[in-house]
Amino acid sequence: MIANFIRSPLKELNEGSNSNAPTHSVTKRIPRILSVANQKGGVGKTTTSVNLATALAAIGKKVLLVDLDPQGNAGTGLGLVRAKIKASTYDVIFGDCTLQEAIHQTKVPRLHVLPSSIHLSGAEIELVNESRREYRLQEALRVPMGYDYVIIDCPPSLSLLTLNALVASDSIIVPLQCEFYALEGLSHLVKTIERIKKNFNPLLDIHGVVLTMFDGRNNLSGMVADDVRDYFGEKVYKTVIPRNVRLSEAPSYGLPAIVYDMRCPGAKAYIQLAKEVLKREKEIIGNSQQNSFDPSNEAA
Ligand SMILES: Nc1ncnc2c1ncn2[C@@H]1O[C@H](COP(=O)(O)OP(=O)(O)OP(=O)(O)O)[C@@H](O)[C@H]1O
Ligand SMILES: [Mg+2]
Repeated sequence: MIANFIRSPLKELNEGSNSNAPTHSVTKRIPRILSVANQKGGVGKTTTSVNLATALAAIGKKVLLVDLDPQGNAGTGLGLVRAKIKASTYDVIFGDCTLQEAIHQTKVPRLHVLPSSIHLSGAEIELVNESRREYRLQEALRVPMGYDYVIIDCPPSLSLLTLNALVASDSIIVPLQCEFYALEGLSHLVKTIERIKKNFNPLLDIHGVVLTMFDGRNNLSGMVADDVRDYFGEKVYKTVIPRNVRLSEAPSYGLPAIVYDMRCPGAKAYIQLAKEVLKREKEIIGNSQQNSFDPSNEAA
């Protein structure tokens, strides 16, 4: 049933995707890790994480979605039943179980999820006296697991949990809701990223900014989008996610919108976003390979 839902977007995605799209094509590769982060609440982090992860899986990538928010919406949005979750991101961070023990398959082929639990809300305090507390997630995830991508759905704060996500990540996707206060607090996020680059993860970068809940009938949405493009320039993805009720209905059926109604404008936008993310990935990986090329080795 789900395979039928997926088949059509898969075809569309494959047509749009480049067969040279970056994939670390050894059997057990270290995944690319992308955090979906913004300390502001309700801006579309979980909706973006779930639907981007689904679209990447539909393209043919092997994807792990990590739910790092104690609210646990990414897991339930993919159909996980809270009562059946035995081990979670919390147990992985504290070394109480292996990653493999905590991962669940989803109804979407090639998409796995590491669910969260309410215990994560206490993790902040419990981590404070632990050694290497900022590196817990990195140590758990930056291992060869056979995934192409790990997508981390962050909580709405710049807490130690988010810090763990950003230390573990190659890059950050920032969802911004098209509303009046969209840019408020962003300088704090940008400063936090700079601090993490300096102290923990020098290669961390903003992958892109995605405008969410765009309402074309509303002048304000357009004005906010212009402001955000002025501020972030090329970093803003061309794809804009429209306000679409299907995106908000889908989680109540335990399905990503791309599976729930693949033809709705929201699902189409997330499929487009996944293509754009992969295009950017190709550029990033191409550049990093060029930078690591040392001509002196050639000469020798
Ligand atoms: N493009 C959209 N159109 C309509 N509703 C949307 C859209 N994106 C998200 N929503 C809805 O807005 C609400 C907030 O979205 P979401 O949970 O993805 O945000 P979040 O940033 O993860 O929130 P939190 O900070 O609480 O984790 C949800 O009810 C979601 O279904
Ligand atoms: Mg969320």
